[in-house]
Amino acid sequence: MTGNSPLTFQVLSKCSKTKARRGLMMLRQTKPVETPVFMPVGTQGTLKGVLVNQLKMDNMNCQIMLGNTYHLGMRPGPEILKKIGGLHKFMAWDRALLTDSGGFQMVSLLQLAEITEQGVKFQSPFDTSTECMLTPEESIKLQNVIGADIIMQLDDVVKTTTTGPRVEEAMHRTIRWIDRCLEANERNDDQSIFPIVQGGLQPELRKQCAEALTKRDVRGFAVGGLSGGESKDDFWKIVSLSTDLLPNDKPRYLMGVGFASDLIVCVALGIDMFDCVFPTRTARFGCALVRSGQLNLRKQTYECDLTPIDEKCGCSTCKTYTKAYIHAVINEPIMCSLLTIHNVYFQLQLMRDMRDAIESDKFPEFVKTYMNELYPEEK
Ligand code: GUN
Ligand code: ZN
Repeated sequence: MTGNSPLTFQVLSKCSKTKARRGLMMLRQTKPVETPVFMPVGTQGTLKGVLVNQLKMDNMNCQIMLGNTYHLGMRPGPEILKKIGGLHKFMAWDRALLTDSGGFQMVSLLQLAEITEQGVKFQSPFDTSTECMLTPEESIKLQNVIGADIIMQLDDVVKTTTTGPRVEEAMHRTIRWIDRCLEANERNDDQSIFPIVQGGLQPELRKQCAEALTKRDVRGFAVGGLSGGESKDDFWKIVSLSTDLLPNDKPRYLMGVGFASDLIVCVALGIDMFDCVFPTRTARFGCALVRSGQLNLRKQTYECDLTPIDEKCGCSTCKTYTKAYIHAVINEPIMCSLLTIHNVYFQLQLMRDMRDAIESDKFPEFVKTYMNELYPEEK
């Protein structure tokens, strides 16, 4: 790729026993994105309860985050975003951004969304008598106004539990829609569209989809339609098959995956990028992520616990506050900030640890140690 490319990706080191790789993705910012990376989700142009400066602090060092076309298209809407010059400026975030195309959110949030060849039809959330249509062209037009560095194609997603011809139809439609998206992108010189491999749990369909998508001139790929209640066995098989089919020299993004154990296994299978609402959402419910699982700070047991969530954690919450304090403010807005900071730090630290382990070719040992802590042997 030329020096002017808005996205370059370089594999820096590879694990000798698994498909894990450590890489460097350069976008239009001064800060590189080190992979494997977890991207926290700031649906509405904010990671709820956290300031961008807190995400940029040296210990946190969040290098890329996610926004959502559907939500941002509703509020603030394209006019305001256009006026200020895009989401980076609007939310005062001078690092990398990725936006999802909106269709998946509509289908998962709005029961009434309907997919046709034209696009995703849905009722306006403000006025249920108004029908709206998000086409591949419209999604890209909105994403061009939002201005994220990486933008996603509009895809046709079916639940992983769906079987029969609908799965194949969605896969073929996703291939037709990538071409409409690429054609509609007016900012290909600074916004990279990632296509999304679909095809449910059927290896043959996934293969057909990946083979078609890799023929397109794109700078990275996503794997979608997973983590929706399928068995771990199916999940791992499809991820592994997908990474085998995707080119080695481009980043691979697994959408909607964020449990620690899934991150570790999927890094081993060759995934470079992840996003998930889980760590931020569970924080708002009062739960802190720890290496052994989760702590629910609402529980009475923490009332007198004068130790931090994790003594070894380097986040500002753990350096400043005790579990008893968080328990005491559990119904105050500050609880959300304190736990979101800890949980995002937890995810980013896990990714840093994995990158270090890959670099020193100790990734298998890392996996073993981590899994033993997460799933202690029952004796
Ligand atoms: N987020 C999680 N899974 C998906 C998917 O399959 N497609 C899109 N567009 N977003 C997702
Ligand atoms: Zn912490």
